[in-house]
Amino acid sequence: MVKVIFSGIQPSGIPTIGNYLGAIRQFVELQEDNECYFCVVNQHAITVPQDPKELRENTRSLAALYVASGLDPNKATLFIQSEVPAHTELSWLIQTFTYMGELERMTQFKDKAEKQSAVSSALFTYPTLMAADILLYNADIVPVGEDQKQHIELTRDVAQRFNNRYGETFVIPDIQLPKVGARIMSLQDPTKKMSKSDENQRAFISMLDSPKQIEKKIKSAVTDSDMEIRYDKENKPGVSNLLAIYASCTNQTVADAEKHFQGKGYGDLKKEVAEAVISVIEPIQQRYEKLINSNELDDILDEGAKKANEVAEKTLHKVKKKMGLIR
Ligand code: AQP
Repeated sequence: MVKVIFSGIQPSGIPTIGNYLGAIRQFVELQEDNECYFCVVNQHAITVPQDPKELRENTRSLAALYVASGLDPNKATLFIQSEVPAHTELSWLIQTFTYMGELERMTQFKDKAEKQSAVSSALFTYPTLMAADILLYNADIVPVGEDQKQHIELTRDVAQRFNNRYGETFVIPDIQLPKVGARIMSLQDPTKKMSKSDENQRAFISMLDSPKQIEKKIKSAVTDSDMEIRYDKENKPGVSNLLAIYASCTNQTVADAEKHFQGKGYGDLKKEVAEAVISVIEPIQQRYEKLINSNELDDILDEGAKKANEVAEKTLHKVKKKMGLIR
């Protein structure tokens, strides 16, 4: 049966291989048999300070990377969040039935708030905007990395609460995690997830890094003083992360990757991980170069916004009617 799929990525930097392996690659598979909506969630990105020029460029880059990674505008609706005003309007409505205690429990808020000298109220209410993104399209499935699990659970809770209060309206979405690559860790601190906005450039591999930069970053990835290549997240987080990246890039299980490296050293591991990452990223970069300054990209985004607005407006109207907001 055809399912409705929604997911988004923030243009808070250039996407990392974590974003690719944890999210984008699943999107490409899902577009084949489903009704898909993939969004560049630029209004999520502004929950922490952004330079306007950089935000505009990163938004376009992310949209181009979606297409370069294999998302096909004939199969999936690709659009930019700020071009569909229903997202922020529904987010406000959702805030009226989301509790402070629920938002206070979100670990991503705690992590991100810690890094800010002044915390915006939008960073706190971020999960209600994410719930709006998903619920507007009646999504059955949300393909994301593991870090988003808590936000999807909150989306389910608030959608159910609305349905109980106002009658059956929202579809309750399910999360879908990738089998391998659901949580790629920082190359410099493998107990922390890889993030595109990490201040330390060596901590992540961006999808636009050159092969030289990729080799260098993987070469300087933190491992440990022992010599054994074994998947053990607790005692060997750095090596385990490299094994997970390798397995995910070469489409094999972590156990198979472990077998492949039996008897080899950390130097071999790093060399082969770099090769595997480059072979995944290079063809995407070639397509990206053709797209980034093209009118084709604008046409795709215009058409995507039109389609997304049609669906989102319908849901928003239904919600407002149920809440007594339509004359
Ligand atoms: N390290 C990761 N491993 C696997 N999946 C990941 N995702 C993010 N990091 C990893 C998945 O990518 C999608 C988009 O995430 P996002 O940009 O909306 O927000 P995020 O999770 O906060 O990603 P970043 O890279 O860490 O961004 P910043 O640095 O701005 O906070 C999601 O599906 C996420 O699970």
